[in-house]
Amino acid sequence: MKLVKRMLLLLVGVGLLVACTENVETLENPDVEEDIWITDEAPLKIGFAMDTLKEERWLKDKALFETAIESHGLEVEIAAANGDDALQIAQAEEMIQNGIDLLVIVPHNAEATAAIVHKAHGAGIKVIAYDRLVKNAEIDLYVSFDNEKVGELQAEAMMKLVPKGNYVFIGGAPTDNNAHLLKKGVFNALQPAIDRGDIKIIYDEWTEDWNPEYAFAHMAEALEINDNQIDAVISANDATAGGAIEALEAQGLAGVIPVAGQDAELAAVRRIVDGTQMMTVYKPIQDLSEQVAALAVHLAQDKEFHPTVSINNGKSEVPAVLLEPVAVNNDNLRDTIIADGFHSEDDVYGTE
Ligand code: BGC
Repeated sequence: MKLVKRMLLLLVGVGLLVACTENVETLENPDVEEDIWITDEAPLKIGFAMDTLKEERWLKDKALFETAIESHGLEVEIAAANGDDALQIAQAEEMIQNGIDLLVIVPHNAEATAAIVHKAHGAGIKVIAYDRLVKNAEIDLYVSFDNEKVGELQAEAMMKLVPKGNYVFIGGAPTDNNAHLLKKGVFNALQPAIDRGDIKIIYDEWTEDWNPEYAFAHMAEALEINDNQIDAVISANDATAGGAIEALEAQGLAGVIPVAGQDAELAAVRRIVDGTQMMTVYKPIQDLSEQVAALAVHLAQDKEFHPTVSINNGKSEVPAVLLEPVAVNNDNLRDTIIADGFHSEDDVYGTE
């Protein structure tokens, strides 16, 4: 590539980014330098093929990733398929045709998106899976949070409050690998109490496309089947928790039956303050977007990066970087999400 590049060793490698963040696993191979491109030709271009922009977290991811890539002096082309597999493949193909230098993908469907990876590799373009793993394809890198830990944190927090009783599990989308990892984490943590007979899982259902309306229907069904005899609800994210809580509200049980979620969405944090949601799991997505951006710049130049962690995706051992999620409830939300500026004090406690 004929780009004139000036490498500035600003000591802002991924390792340092990681080290700056309290709850983030330290990488053992931190020597990724920040590369600043100064060129009179077109800068490198990163494609960001997103599943959806229908949830608050993905709007944040989009804005943060765009800023992070641009801060390296690179361009970014972004598209979102809003849950449509064929559209996501078409959008990624278009990016490849437009001459992107590296593709970052948030797959809607872990299996279907393997086709995109093959196409990108055919064109000599590396692919990073962002937050969600692509299955059955030789992905170059996977950067996410420890999704099993997300489930463990939910279950541990719930067991502290409800050590014995009837539990409902409202899962995420079965097409999303994260939903499976989270479920594994939840059930690993609950298993000893289930074995003792202290906890009984009385309802367990996936939620197609993480759709809150389906989560509402699941919760309504769980209440009906069990005559409202439910002691705790673990929901795979805050959007589905919102649906579940509406169904509880309809029975006058919001705030009576504790509900766990994940994402620290503003609506969920406000529900934690008003007592209708018990906890959420906060994932500092600024760290995620910045790390992916730094690694995208690195890999787009065909530099090596070998993290010590890898995850098998059915096809290969995918090099992986997994960040730490944080359990948040009413007691620590100031010290976590507000302290981080993820949401402002006004947004959380304001009356608007
Ligand atoms: C993400 C969650 C998100 C969910 C629905 C999962 O893959 O890890 O943070 O809530 O997708 O968009």
